[in-house]
Amino acid sequence: MAEEAILGYLAKNEEIADSGEFAAKHGLDHDDVVNVIKSLHGFQYVDAQDIKRETWVLTDEGNMYAAAGSPEGQLFFAVPAEGGIPREELQKKLSPLVFKIGCAQAAKNKWVDMGKQVSRKVKHVEDRVKDLLLQIKDGQVIDQDDIKALKGRKLIAPQTWNGYSVKKGPSYAPQRKKFVADLTREMLQSGDWKNLEFKEYNFNAKGQPIEGGHLHPLNKVRHQLRMIFLQMGFEEMPTDRFVESSFWNFDALFQPQQHPARDAHDTFYLKAPSTTKELPEDYVERVKRVHESGGYGSRGYDYNWSRDEANKNLLRTHTTAVSSRMLYMLAQKPFTPKRYFSIDRVFRNEAVDRTHLAEFHQIEGLICDRGLTLGDLIGVLHDFFSRLGMAKLRFKPAYNPYTEPSMEIFSYHEGFGKWVEVGNSGMFRPEMLLPMGLPEDVRVIAWGLSLERPTMILYGINNIRDLFGHKVDLGLIKINPICGLGV
Ligand code: PHE
Repeated sequence: MAEEAILGYLAKNEEIADSGEFAAKHGLDHDDVVNVIKSLHGFQYVDAQDIKRETWVLTDEGNMYAAAGSPEGQLFFAVPAEGGIPREELQKKLSPLVFKIGCAQAAKNKWVDMGKQVSRKVKHVEDRVKDLLLQIKDGQVIDQDDIKALKGRKLIAPQTWNGYSVKKGPSYAPQRKKFVADLTREMLQSGDWKNLEFKEYNFNAKGQPIEGGHLHPLNKVRHQLRMIFLQMGFEEMPTDRFVESSFWNFDALFQPQQHPARDAHDTFYLKAPSTTKELPEDYVERVKRVHESGGYGSRGYDYNWSRDEANKNLLRTHTTAVSSRMLYMLAQKPFTPKRYFSIDRVFRNEAVDRTHLAEFHQIEGLICDRGLTLGDLIGVLHDFFSRLGMAKLRFKPAYNPYTEPSMEIFSYHEGFGKWVEVGNSGMFRPEMLLPMGLPEDVRVIAWGLSLERPTMILYGINNIRDLFGHKVDLGLIKINPICGLGV
């Protein structure tokens, strides 16, 4: 509408002198007119010059009086034409502000006699203040003295008005041409392209923001940990086996079959396939024997070991299941020392809360060599954890069925100002290593920790459900830092 009006007007006239007057004359909204002028100017259909004008607008108080009359006017009309009215009664008829200003102004105008009794001094009055306010509201120009007076009474305030004067521009046409953005097959076939005008390339346009991939914090911390292990000369173990047999997850680790951790409360057992297909039979036999009656200097657990129990499939409860397979495989060849690590997912049937999920990730490291001692384990743990920024360590005796001695690892957290548990460790028992066939003087030192714990500390996340699972906010993954100091 506004565009047609402007271009049409310029076809017959030299210029639009004032966009404000033009809008008023054509019944258009001035903001619309201004927007169209800016757009036409951008495409050089018109030349436009800024016009700035100081105008006046009514204040809230001014608006009130424009509607209800000035205070002096209201006061005058509240006084009866004949006789008069006691001052207190008049006061009750008006608002306190209107009464106060009204008295002063009406007396100054000599409209009323102010005493105990208020009475009219003149027959008729003209409420000029109200009329002037209405004129200003209407956009009319009024006398400078009147402006001064109204401004003095804070009934009007200045405002800058912006508009344009407009002439034809170098690309003027009575109608805007549509530029074509894309060259199509049809245009080429029909030959239409010859008559069309194409939109210029805008090399300054920003283009679509690129949504690249974003790594999850767990992926980033896993990568950093992997680098640390590789720098320390560790090889990564193959962990692509979420479903494991009870045998490798528990029995091979000398974990008795009545152990509470095997209980369905902690372990997810599989319905189908419910059992494993094959196990190395001679090794199974040695594991059965060590559980039932010991050997290698051990008394065993003295119970009837069940093959059915060992065959049961489960979701692995720790990555130590992978370590037991790897050590068994290592024992089948002439011995070479090894440093192994793994970082992958494990599953436990636990009640989910702000620090526990039914699935999480474990980081595990182990070194297998002749004659290793607990001192070696402590030394390696210091090396490993100081690379994570945790130089202050303490150890507490602990129990695992497959390690002896076992130690919980604590690190002093400067931010929290206290010791926090960061992992579990130990030396694998002879009851685990010797049935595999490893040489008698070979010792294995090992440790494990969760990937979630250091990640949460590093990224300041205190509810694990914000880090992993279906409630995670994808925005968090998009905005978290690409890299960080510390781990
Ligand atoms: N498997 C143990 C756990 O799940 C961690 C661990 C690994 C402990 C190796 C000792 C040695 O907590």
